[in-house]
Amino acid sequence: MFKDKFREGIISARDFYREDIEYILQKGHEMLSVKNSNILSGKILATLFFEPSTRTRLSFESAMHRLGGNVIGFQSGDVSSIKKGESLADTIRTVENYCDCIVIRHPMEGSAKMAARFANIPIINAGSGSKEHPTQALLDLLTINEEMGKLDGINIGVMGDLKYGRTVHSLAMLLSNFDVNIYFISPEELKMRGRYKEYLYQQRKVKFKELTNYRKVLDILDVLYMTRIQKERFADLEEYERVKNFYVFSRKDLKQTKDNFKLLHPLPRINEITPSIDNSEKSIYFKQTGYGLHMRKAILAELLED
Ligand code: NCD
Repeated sequence: MFKDKFREGIISARDFYREDIEYILQKGHEMLSVKNSNILSGKILATLFFEPSTRTRLSFESAMHRLGGNVIGFQSGDVSSIKKGESLADTIRTVENYCDCIVIRHPMEGSAKMAARFANIPIINAGSGSKEHPTQALLDLLTINEEMGKLDGINIGVMGDLKYGRTVHSLAMLLSNFDVNIYFISPEELKMRGRYKEYLYQQRKVKFKELTNYRKVLDILDVLYMTRIQKERFADLEEYERVKNFYVFSRKDLKQTKDNFKLLHPLPRINEITPSIDNSEKSIYFKQTGYGLHMRKAILAELLED
């Protein structure tokens, strides 16, 4: 059972196998028609965000309110006792006394896993450094499944900052459970790191290709998942300046795509998609943010409902 398996929370996309994903996608689908409910009445969610966020935090908070629960938390490490030097472990051991579940975003890789070691309530990883963002990947799959009607058999391009982008790492892990062709598209400097590729190739037998020029595959893609170059993760800002405008997806590009092609992006977008294509039926990145609410309702209901 999903609830038993994820008793400690949602830490890594690696923990998800096909049956877990199908189960939560179905639950997410059911949530599309649940606007308000009181299934989590009396429950409290804590959102601890040590890095900026718009969609992830607000959709988790909205989801909790929509299901009748309450929310506490902070939006920046600057306003918590971490600023005074308190350790993350001590913060977790404190906050768990005030709530039923903790959503955490922290710049340190492995932060959510560490938090789970110290907590007796479920921890949800809302972004751990450049490593993982599993609930984003779940909402990405919900978006694709709802919009394309399937996951098996699709050709998907995953493009942009594949080195530092945590959403693409989690997405690739989840996709590895399906029969998909993945095209990893990035500048040479921002290729997916070896440890992820080895895992995908050796342990999960995923079919993927790496390339730099997305135009070579535009006409065969069903989905393109575009990402932002992660400025805050670069040790050398000159390197960021060199690659920041490497890809700009335009109207001309969109014209080359299949009729039922879909363009996704976890957002925020900087320059990598021209705003002039926002109104195209193929551009579904804002719709995707809506699916985020429903997936987070599904996750919270699953972890917290009595
Ligand atoms: C992403 C993140 O925080 O990793 N944002 C999000 O949660 N939608 C993507 C990004 O910041 O580029």
